[in-house]
Amino acid sequence: MTHRILMLPGDHIGPEIVAEADRLLQALIDDYGLDATLEYAHLGGCAVDAEGEPFPASTRRLAEAADAILLGAVGGPQWDGLPRDKRPETGLLNIRSALGLFANLRPAILFPELVDASSLRPDVVAGLDILIFRELTGGIYFGQPRGLRTRDDGIREGFNTLVYGADEIERIGRAAFQAASRRGGRLCSVDKANVLESSELWREVMTSIAPDYPDVELSHLYVDNAAMQLVRDPKQFDVIVTGNLFGDVLSDCAAMLTGSIGMLPSASLDAGGRGLYEPVHGSAPDIAGQGVANPLATLLSVAMLLRYSLDEGALADRVERAVGRVLAAGRRSPDLAADPAQALGTRAMGDAVVNALDR
Ligand code: NAD
Ligand code: IPM
Ligand code: MN
Repeated sequence: MTHRILMLPGDHIGPEIVAEADRLLQALIDDYGLDATLEYAHLGGCAVDAEGEPFPASTRRLAEAADAILLGAVGGPQWDGLPRDKRPETGLLNIRSALGLFANLRPAILFPELVDASSLRPDVVAGLDILIFRELTGGIYFGQPRGLRTRDDGIREGFNTLVYGADEIERIGRAAFQAASRRGGRLCSVDKANVLESSELWREVMTSIAPDYPDVELSHLYVDNAAMQLVRDPKQFDVIVTGNLFGDVLSDCAAMLTGSIGMLPSASLDAGGRGLYEPVHGSAPDIAGQGVANPLATLLSVAMLLRYSLDEGALADRVERAVGRVLAAGRRSPDLAADPAQALGTRAMGDAVVNALDR
């Protein structure tokens, strides 16, 4: 059966990096037997400009019909002044929520060739392989009430609600336990249970389901300590499970251990196997239009898409091997290069990965 892949380039560097994913997928279709069609739709600022909404109904229909979705990135300063419901980021939150994509997998893997590109010492990061499970459709990102208001004394205030149901905690917890049991057998749950009731419940639920996974060793850390441990000794971690906001912050931090935020892919999965795949980084307006963005996080997101939504594990391995070969040959985008003048641009890196696919 032909797989339907929906491509959502988004804003700023989004279309530049998704163009490389398109070329990679096209090569897999033409030369490696991938049976897929690519469709395109608007999400984010480009959707606001073209259709008046950051997550238009037409995009939603295509997303619901697709087997998998690949997103570039959304957002940019020109849309920051819009009312919140028209913001590009709201479009992203809405597609995650509408499709029930509660499990966000963010692997932070250091390619051996990049050990000198990390901001930490080689002995601290060599061999790093962490998987972060971020809860993606709940927590403070979605809690009600939220808003802006003016107090009786005339001072304005902004407010948000951090709420987690035991059901939401349990389903991300079980997904993370299952992944840990297939990997290194260690799961660290990150919360702020010393201060927050939502975290007290989080810890209680994680502890209560642990006996169902006897081969997994569960530990708990407060988020402030977890942030410190990630840069002190990141290799102590195997799988990390945490809430929406903590996961957002910790995954950018983990990204830097791998050399650049331009290296980190992600998968956002529902309960069935449909997924949205995107780099962890944003739309990088500061470098857009120059053809210098690192496309590898997006190409590695294509590998995750092949593995998790299309059941094409062998093709996913092939893409990851190709990325490894390009890096082993010393080819780097400017964010990773010691001498940015010698670096390859977005298109050249995309070409290099396609050319490095094994025959
Ligand atoms: P960002 O991740 O876009 O950029 C942070 C820094 O990393 C910038 O200096 C940027 O140039 C660099 N960078 C990011 N991706 C890179 C790549 N592939 N290659 C080389 N360098 C790269 O974060 P930001 O600046 O805080 O946000 C910019 C916009 O992106 C905002 O509108 C934000 O809301 C949005 N955003 C979107 C997503 C998403 O779509 N999933 C994620 C994060 C931020
Ligand atoms: C991410 C981004 C998004 C998030 C924003 C753009 C809504 O930072 O995917 O990490 O906070 O989830
Ligand atoms: Mn983020």
